[in-house]
Amino acid sequence: MKIVQLTAENVKKLKVVDITPTKDFIQITGKNGSGKTSVLDSISWALGGKDGIQWKPIREGAEKARIRLNLGDVIVERRFTQNGTSLTVENADGARYPSPQAMLDELIGELSFDPLAFAHMDPRKQYDELKRVAKIGVDIEDLEAKSKADFEKRTVKNREAKEVKARAGGYEFKFAADVEQVDVSGLIGKLQTAAQHNADIDRRAERRADTVSLIEDGKKDIAELEVKLAKMREHVAGMEKQVATAEALPKKVNVDELRNLIEEGQQKNVEHERRREQRKLLEQSAAFEGEAEALTKAIAERDAAKAKALQESKMPVPGLSLSDGRVHFGGVPFNQCSSAEQLRTSVAIAMAANPKLRVIRIKDGSLLDDDGLKLIAEQAKENDYQIWIERVDTSGKIGIVMEDGEVARDNETSTAA
Ligand SMILES: Nc1ncnc2c1ncn2[C@@H]1O[C@H](COP(=O)(O)OP(=O)(O)OP(=O)(O)O)[C@@H](O)[C@H]1O
Ligand SMILES: [Mg+2]
Repeated sequence: MKIVQLTAENVKKLKVVDITPTKDFIQITGKNGSGKTSVLDSISWALGGKDGIQWKPIREGAEKARIRLNLGDVIVERRFTQNGTSLTVENADGARYPSPQAMLDELIGELSFDPLAFAHMDPRKQYDELKRVAKIGVDIEDLEAKSKADFEKRTVKNREAKEVKARAGGYEFKFAADVEQVDVSGLIGKLQTAAQHNADIDRRAERRADTVSLIEDGKKDIAELEVKLAKMREHVAGMEKQVATAEALPKKVNVDELRNLIEEGQQKNVEHERRREQRKLLEQSAAFEGEAEALTKAIAERDAAKAKALQESKMPVPGLSLSDGRVHFGGVPFNQCSSAEQLRTSVAIAMAANPKLRVIRIKDGSLLDDDGLKLIAEQAKENDYQIWIERVDTSGKIGIVMEDGEVARDNETSTAA
């Protein structure tokens, strides 16, 4: 659906304008202030809601204004009075639609999208505009910010894991990892008991040696003390018997062995403690690694959600994407694409955003050189769209020439107004 005929009376600069395009590339030309934008605004005001209409739509001095758009299958008429605006939409048979604006909203898409204006926006505005047109379902900035934060956290976690692992690797061991803990204080107790035992034996041995020497003394005394001999002999015999029947002395305990056990036991216990610390550090490092892995997963999930949302969104042209607050085309930031690429893509967005009403408005057409104009005209022809483009031109030889709010000449049909 395209514009078959546009009639506008008293809209902004316009007096009476009646345009029936014969081509799909409609250039509205003329001097500054001649009424070119007023023509383009008439199109969008007829079709868009009340909100887009400017503060003073009726021409100064006039009481009312009127725009009539013949779209072939439907005829749209918007009227302005000092009290406000009204809208009627009729089909070809003259039957009126009960909810005209709802009917138009269904039809018109993104008529406000001006491809040339888009191509000249700064990257941030382009991003916002494309996000609006493509109706993205997720908060891309939020996803990107979260992933950035997680990325930083993950770097910290990975570093912590590495540090702790390095500390765990710094331990040295003499005994095998499965060595048991040793009861050193038990061994010390045993040592004390053994020492006591041995001292007792020493004392007894000493006493025994004393007795032997007493026997010797006694024998000597026998000779001298003959009188006491018999008694003494008996006494000595008794003592001899005592010595003879005494039990063998027990074997001494090997204390060196115990000392070695104690020393080794202490070393083992130190290592035991060291192993426990090492285990703790390894567990900690594994936990850090686990956290880093979870962060990696979260980042990947968000990337996937973003990719999915972008895939599911109505991105109007293949190769267009949104990331880092910029529009990208074919992976390259949009403002780094060639002017021709930017222009072609912008027009393609405008077309995709207006699938039913095949009309595109371009206000700053004067910014385009001949190549740009040609490119847009060809693109419109290929895709069967109608382009309404405003250009300052004072030659009077191009397109529909506006002069003081009226069509002065239509070069397409070559009939002077
Ligand atoms: N309600 C109005 N009544 C009368 N004149 C108006 C009204 N609104 C705007 N104008 C005048 O219309 C002129 C601008 O019209 P318009 O924007 O259509 O011109 P243009 O041809 O697009 O100009 P440019 O080449 O500068 O873009 C200005 O002189 C402005 O003062
Ligand atoms: Mg203008």
